[in-house]
Amino acid sequence: MFCAIAELNENSADNARIAHRNGKRLKLKKVFTTFPLALLFVSGESIAQLYSANTINRVCYVTVSKQIEWRHCKCVNNASDSTARHHNGYRTIMNELPTYTAPPGGQLSREMLADYENTGVLILRDFVSTDQCQRLREHTLKLIDEFDLTEVRHVFSAMEQSQLDDSYFEESGDKIRFFFEHDAFDESGNLRQPKEHSLNKMGHAMHDLDPVFDSFSRTAELAGIARSLGIEAPGIIQSMYIFKPPRIGGEVYCHQDSTFIYTEPESCVGFWFALEDATVENGCMQFIPGGHKLGLKERHFRGKDGKLTFETLDDSPWPENATVAAEAPAGTMVIFDGRAPHLSGPNLSAKSRHAYTLHIIDRNCHYPAENWLQRSPDLPLRGFDS
Ligand code: FE2
Repeated sequence: MFCAIAELNENSADNARIAHRNGKRLKLKKVFTTFPLALLFVSGESIAQLYSANTINRVCYVTVSKQIEWRHCKCVNNASDSTARHHNGYRTIMNELPTYTAPPGGQLSREMLADYENTGVLILRDFVSTDQCQRLREHTLKLIDEFDLTEVRHVFSAMEQSQLDDSYFEESGDKIRFFFEHDAFDESGNLRQPKEHSLNKMGHAMHDLDPVFDSFSRTAELAGIARSLGIEAPGIIQSMYIFKPPRIGGEVYCHQDSTFIYTEPESCVGFWFALEDATVENGCMQFIPGGHKLGLKERHFRGKDGKLTFETLDDSPWPENATVAAEAPAGTMVIFDGRAPHLSGPNLSAKSRHAYTLHIIDRNCHYPAENWLQRSPDLPLRGFDS
């Protein structure tokens, strides 16, 4: 028996009564309803019956850790996808993101490409070996060890996608720089946790400047993925090592990466690799499946005054309750469209969630000089050829 909050299915107050009736029929311990939500004390079996009776749309379980996780029902009264989407407005009925075993040579099948087209996201399990993940983590720990804390104390605000020291960040497009978590320091300016558990990220040109990252980032499999996606002249515009440290790992608000890595026409694609198991508890990514079809909502660029700014292109809110968690064991690759809306919760757990990401653009597209990330001509944009 556990406590759950359910979202009643239809846009009608009648559902409160239906939920009560069904609750009685299913001998639920207790049902409290304030449309459109119901608080239930139930067994998993009863939840399944409520789903099949078309009473509830989805449910989240309130756990002892007070973290909640929405579970989308698999189908709404056996409705077809199109009926369910119409029935629920924007909300998707999808309960998981398209997930496959990594294909040989990075050759995406027609089915994988169709799923990517529909959802904007594709998860490939076992894309890299756990040994490769381990090597990249150990190499990164070595870089952290060599990094002099007294020189730089720059904080990356994940919620604002901005940072307190502009030039340190803005000039990092062709360098390797470290950024601390917002809550890394205490009131006296001392780290609350060891250095390796205080960083938000490292970026943004490890793939071009560090041989270990270079060889991880340029493989025949990744070249195969880029080819399968139809990227004519792939260029790896940035790399980031995301630490999401235990207890202080910052939340990232819902955004699209094309906001920051903008080309004309848009061509940004994210390649994300789980170096450690990413779960809801340690703040895995969450996507709105199909949200990439809604268009680009914001652009981030350098204005005429030289300052980085956001331009709102569409101020309608994201349907954030439609997010689906992209839980990913170490070695998983997640490919996502530059317009795919995604977010990640804070990491309040005791486990870090290390990940490595590459952003790919098509070099045939125009890369505006107003984009925040600029590279020195000494470091020309390269693709996957080693
Ligand atoms: Fe992102």
